[in-house]
Amino acid sequence: MIKVGIVGGTGYTGVELLRLLAVHPNVELTAITSRKEDGLPVADMFPSLRGRVNIAFSSPDKADLTKCDVVFFATPHGVAMAQAPELFKAGVKVIDLAADFRIKDKVVFEKWYKIDHTCPELLEEAAYGLAELNRDNIKNARLVANPGCYPTTMQLGYYPLLKNALVDAGSLIADCKSGVSGAGRKAEIGTLFSESSDNFKAYGVAGHRHTPETSAQLQKFTADKVGLIFTPHLVPMIRGMHSTLYARLTKDISNEDLQKLFEDQYKDSAFVDVMPFGSHPETRSTRGSNMLRLALHRPDNGNTVIVLVVQDNLVKGASGQAVQCMNLMFGLEETTGLTQIALLP
Ligand SMILES: NC(=O)c1ccc[n+]([C@@H]2O[C@H](COP(=O)([O-])OP(=O)(O)OC[C@H]3O[C@@H](n4cnc5c(N)ncnc54)[C@H](OP(=O)(O)O)[C@@H]3O)[C@@H](O)[C@H]2O)c1
Repeated sequence: MIKVGIVGGTGYTGVELLRLLAVHPNVELTAITSRKEDGLPVADMFPSLRGRVNIAFSSPDKADLTKCDVVFFATPHGVAMAQAPELFKAGVKVIDLAADFRIKDKVVFEKWYKIDHTCPELLEEAAYGLAELNRDNIKNARLVANPGCYPTTMQLGYYPLLKNALVDAGSLIADCKSGVSGAGRKAEIGTLFSESSDNFKAYGVAGHRHTPETSAQLQKFTADKVGLIFTPHLVPMIRGMHSTLYARLTKDISNEDLQKLFEDQYKDSAFVDVMPFGSHPETRSTRGSNMLRLALHRPDNGNTVIVLVVQDNLVKGASGQAVQCMNLMFGLEETTGLTQIALLP
């Protein structure tokens, strides 16, 4: 059994990791930390886990994470980088759900995240945890940088177009929407029910931290200079993410060939569903599952291709993707413990 520790077990991605790992056949939950809830049985805070998770939260200083085989950091940025070196000395693998190791360039990281990077020597080594595009690196990694939720949709949606040099890489436009759980469980005015329900707004239009992460990854897919405009929006739902990706075609290609390109690209990816051309994927078709669904459109058969992408921000956008990486790192089937069907209605 893989001994698993979770730092930040009281947050939304933390409890989602618990939900997935509690029924994972190869996992033994060994330590779950919380600074505020030391000693509280996990199931007392989350009754959904009663009878499934029988351990208590412990404060980070008491939890002996060096006994684990792998530790997930479901924490704000800055926490994993502070603890990873010590865990590596004990032979423990690390999967960070935050951004500490996603951006290879220390200066860019520090500009966007406004903290010093305390172990830049690990940046090159970290495997970017998007299994569909980086499976082999993840298999051999001791450190995985789990991708951001929006960047997951943008990369999987744009990859086949950029890799095959079909679109103008310099004029990509991503219009993306997230449910409120994307902001985490901490108390904030903007996520109060009376602020976020019955309301719809854009945010971070002038610049969002997921832009440098996504642009750097997209740049790996093409020799042309990537130009990405990314506009996130907050929608009054709890879970779910919908990204509408626009790109200008620069080559002649039929709709059938476009569709085939995407189907071929993802035929061995259990968690990417390429829906029929012209479909409208809904966020609820992914709710609680690790599936990302996408569909292609081409209005008036013109030269703009639109890729609609949906996922559950907490599963494929975070904790499910992290478990997918863990499976690869420990030589398991990539889909182990991740075959839940979305909850509907
Ligand atoms: N929410 C999403 O949809 C989503 C998607 C992709 C990635 N992410 C990323 O995943 C990470 C976690 O997000 P979340 O939404 O789960 O956040 P959250 O709900 O705010 O939870 C954060 C957790 O971290 C713990 N924590 C905070 N500061 C800590 C510290 N200094 N040391 C140790 N533990 C600390 C908190 O517990 P205590 O205060 O009890 O210690 C809490 O359990 C973030 O980096 C986020 O950007 C989130």
